[in-house]
Amino acid sequence: MSQHIRVEQDGAVLVLTFNRPDKKNALTNEMYGMLVREMVRAATDPAIRALAFAGEGDMFTSGNDLADFSEIASGAKPADTLGAYPFIKALAQFEKPLVAAVQGNAVGIGMTMLLHCDAVYIAEGAKLTAPFADLALVPEAASSLLLPACAGHARAYAVFALSEPIDGRTAAQIGLATAALPAAEVKARALEAAHRLALKPAGALKAIKKLMRDAAAINDAIEQETKLFAERLKTPEAAEAFNAFREKRKPDFGKLG
Ligand code: COA
Repeated sequence: MSQHIRVEQDGAVLVLTFNRPDKKNALTNEMYGMLVREMVRAATDPAIRALAFAGEGDMFTSGNDLADFSEIASGAKPADTLGAYPFIKALAQFEKPLVAAVQGNAVGIGMTMLLHCDAVYIAEGAKLTAPFADLALVPEAASSLLLPACAGHARAYAVFALSEPIDGRTAAQIGLATAALPAAEVKARALEAAHRLALKPAGALKAIKKLMRDAAAINDAIEQETKLFAERLKTPEAAEAFNAFREKRKPDFGKLG
């Protein structure tokens, strides 16, 4: 059990809430483990007809816990221990409706996971960032495929390489989100949508989702990204990025040549 993931069954909707607000809901391996266990349960339990993600506090999530990245960069743990990988697979394979209530900023996997959600309600002012270049990493969760498909190459490149955010209003305009709303309304609207989806014929929803997503291409992208991501985690560039975060300073990539 992870105290940092709150699990609530709200009728036919399973609500998984990132609940580590003092660390901006940064996702640890333990939290990923809990998320995956709940998603596996939700996939097979007929009483669960939709799944919703939410965040406690002012951020949706600040993404992967950088201490877990650091342990891999330093060689203390192998790259395949990263809890994000099974979570990404669970997201990509989930056949029931996935809804997200993004009440605040989201970083990294907090943004890329939204590309696997079927309905995304976001605060108008929330900023979505995926600063992979700043961390000396590469995109994950098939975002190298799905974000350019949604936002276009140039805007996606600006997200990954220039760390430029996409705000909630823009996310809704480009179809990354269903609707941008005042922050206080986000969770209620997301849950209302999840409950409406839970009343629809599950077989039809499953078939619609299958038709709308190129599962083989998504899987290929995840495989390629995962290999590169694991390699990048062990580079001196990545070590510098994680050390800089821990030491609360700007990284100096120039010294690495
Ligand atoms: N991993 C581990 N700890 C994190 C974290 C993360 N991804 N994001 C935030 N935290 C921790 C901070 O270290 C800080 O801990 P402390 O109070 O013990 O010092 C606490 O959460 C609050 O964060 P802080 O940086 O003080 O809040 P902020 O509002 O000034 O900034 C962020 C918020 C999200 C902009 C900033 O924390 C950040 O850039 N985090 C890293 C995001 C990231 O790169 N994620 C990985 C993407 S792949």
